[in-house]
Amino acid sequence: MHYFSYKGGELHAEDVPFSTLAKAYGTPLYVYSRRTLTRHIRAYKEAFDGVPNIICFALKANSNGAIIKLLASEGAGADIVSGGELFRALRAGVPAKKIVYAGVGKTEEEIAFALRKKILMFNVESGEELAKINQVAGTLGVKAPIALRVNPDINPKTHPYITTGMKKYKFGIPIEDALESYRRASKMENIEVVGVHKHIGSQLTETGPFEDALKKVLALIDALRQSGMELKYLDMGGGLGIRYSEEDNPPEPKELAARLLPLLGKSNRDLTVVIEPGRSIVGNAGVLVTKCLYVKKTPKKKFLIVDAGMNDLIRPSLYGAWHEILPVRKSRRAREKADVVGPICESGDFLARGRELPAINQGEYLAVMSAGAYGFSMGSSYNSRPRPAEVLVDGAKHTLIRRRETYADLVKGEL
Ligand code: LLP
Repeated sequence: MHYFSYKGGELHAEDVPFSTLAKAYGTPLYVYSRRTLTRHIRAYKEAFDGVPNIICFALKANSNGAIIKLLASEGAGADIVSGGELFRALRAGVPAKKIVYAGVGKTEEEIAFALRKKILMFNVESGEELAKINQVAGTLGVKAPIALRVNPDINPKTHPYITTGMKKYKFGIPIEDALESYRRASKMENIEVVGVHKHIGSQLTETGPFEDALKKVLALIDALRQSGMELKYLDMGGGLGIRYSEEDNPPEPKELAARLLPLLGKSNRDLTVVIEPGRSIVGNAGVLVTKCLYVKKTPKKKFLIVDAGMNDLIRPSLYGAWHEILPVRKSRRAREKADVVGPICESGDFLARGRELPAINQGEYLAVMSAGAYGFSMGSSYNSRPRPAEVLVDGAKHTLIRRRETYADLVKGEL
C-alpha cells in the first residue's frame, strides 16, 4: 500500500507531480511519502496492540534522519547493527531504552558506546561476543542487558543472501546450544539476561516460517523458565516482505500478528514483544526517479540509459531483485522490451532487464518503485557519482531531507 498514483496522466507522490520534484531537485532523486510511512508504522502499532510491544525500525533499511525522526515521533524505537546507526538513532531522537543492537561483529568501541548510552539490549550472536560485552561492561562498571540471538534453523524461503536463520549462515547461536549459553550468561558478573532474539531473514512472503521459528523460541523460553530464568523481552526480528510485483502477496502486519500472538499463550503474557521491521515500513514508501539520458538500439537489444545506476540502487544487480518501473507520464505508445541501465562501467549495472515498457524518449522520467528500503542506504559513490538527493512529500508539500552530494563531498576526508 502506498500513496504514489497517476492523476491526470502523471505519476504523483501524494499530491505532487513527479516532474515538479525532478525539476526542483534534479535526478536521480529519492522521493518518500510521509503518509505512506505513517500508515505503515501505525499498521504495526495496531497489529501488536494486544501485547506490550516496542516496534524497533530497522535502520539499515533507510537511515535518513528525517525518516527516523518521523517514525520515532510515532513511537518507534530502533534496531541497529553498528555504532553509526546508534549515532543516527540517538541524533534523530529515538530513546535509548527503545534501541536493540544486533550484528555478528560488534567492536569493543561500539559495545562501549552502546553501554554508555544505556540501550535496551544487545542481541548477542556468539559466546565470544558475550564474553567481550561482559568484559567491556566490567571496565565501565555497568551491567549489560542482553538477549541471545538464537538461530532456529528455519528456512524462510527467500533469497540466500538475506536468509539468516539457518544453520549454514553466520547469524545467532544454534538453538540447541542456547540453554547452555544462557546458563553461562546468567553467571557472568556484568551481564543481565533480559531477553531472547531471532531474525530468520528478509522479504518473507508467508507466515509459516515466522510461526515455526517462534514455536522453537517459545520452547526455549519454557525451558529457561524451568531452570529459573525469566525473560522480559521476546524479540521476533523483522523480515516481513512487501509487494514488489503483482506476484508477491505478503501478509499485512495484522495477519502476521494474528498468527503469532496466539502462540504466546498465557504464560508469556508479561513478555514485551519487540519487532524489527525495516522493509515493510519504508520499502513501498520510496521511489527512485531517474531521467532517460539516451535510447540506444543495437541489433540485439534496446537499452534505456538512465541517470541512476547500481550505485544508487544496487538491489537488481546484487539480488536479481525486480522493481516495477513506471513512466512518470502515462503513455499509450507501443510497448517494447528494453534493458533499463545506468551509466556505471559494468554490465552488471542495470535496474531492469528485458522490461516491457511503453517507448520512452530521451529526457523523459521513469519512477523505480518500492525503492525506499535498502535503496539509498546501500548506495555508494562508485564511479565517483555524487549520491542523489532525498525528498519527503507530505500532501502538496515537499521538503529536501538530504541534499544531493557535490564533487567536493566526494573528496571530503581525503588527505
Ligand atoms: N532485524 C535484523 C536483525 C536484521 O538483520 C534485519 C535485516 C531486519 C531486522 C530488518 O529486516 P526487514 O524487515 O527489512 O526485512 N539488503 C537486503 C535486505 C537485507 C536485510 C538484512 N537484515 C535487500 O535489499 O533485500
